[in-house]
Amino acid sequence: MTDSTDHTTPIKRAGVMGWPVDHSLSPRVHGFWLQHYAIPGEYVRIPVAPEHFAAKLRALPQDGFTGANVTVPHKEAALKNVDDAHPLARRIGAVNTIKVQDDGSLYGFNTDGFGFLENLKAGYAGFDVTRGPAVLLGAGGAARAILAALLDAGAPEIRVLNRTRERAEQLAADLTGLGQGDIIVGTWEQRMDHLEGAALLANTTTLGMKGQRSLDLDISSLPTDAVVNDIVYTPLETDLLARARARGNPVVDGLGMLLHQARPGFEAWFGHMPDVTENLRAHVLSGA
Ligand code: ATR
Repeated sequence: MTDSTDHTTPIKRAGVMGWPVDHSLSPRVHGFWLQHYAIPGEYVRIPVAPEHFAAKLRALPQDGFTGANVTVPHKEAALKNVDDAHPLARRIGAVNTIKVQDDGSLYGFNTDGFGFLENLKAGYAGFDVTRGPAVLLGAGGAARAILAALLDAGAPEIRVLNRTRERAEQLAADLTGLGQGDIIVGTWEQRMDHLEGAALLANTTTLGMKGQRSLDLDISSLPTDAVVNDIVYTPLETDLLARARARGNPVVDGLGMLLHQARPGFEAWFGHMPDVTENLRAHVLSGA
């Protein structure tokens, strides 16, 4: 019997850098795909404290990594420490995916907005970002990537509502001009008034997450054909989604954003654009 294993080619290795990173679901997502597509590779957790992040990032090539995901709290530091970055990642101010190039340099990009849009397209067949105004609740890191993706994809108007108004204004200032769409900053207190005529409502705040306060929002003025999305996925059906569903709005849950944002990284590291399937969802949920 001959051993056909090629011992000269080490298996490809990627991972997720975060602090803490124990609860990250990314290893389950990539682990599922590696097995499903029978790709010899591994995807590991890389716990790294903020003070060690830059050095650990720069050491990825020597440590045998083909790339990595970057999660809280390192996404901004990742942008500062890569050799080159995609223009959208620069605009967002954050990198969530890194590829080690053939020459050993680090290239950063941001797939959160891609994940958001792909999730909406997969979750609601009739979704069309250009159809009407989008309402974005929140102005944190997730909102930043989502706003950039919406503008880039041709959203005509985006209404950003955040408890801390200055943060929404800063976000609007940073991303104005990215697409043709207008960014309107409203007040959190009057959030209900901004739902009129909207085609999309997305919650990017942490409100409604298990252990957090619920999202206090009367959605009676939202058109019933507006798509409602919550990026919170614990629980999978948030109170916002349940209420929207009950009045007939199409709803898309937040787990798909996590799954879809992982796809471009997997393709960059392991050479195959993976699919998001019911089996993947079930596998990830069983470990959540
Ligand atoms: P992420 O990077 O995941 O988006 P973040 O930057 O901490 O996380 O942002 C969390 C979002 O939830 C913010 O928009 C935050 O509002 P502030 O900018 O005013 O902090 C919002 N949020 C958190 N708790 C909230 C609450 N009790 N009421 C309203 N908004 C809240």
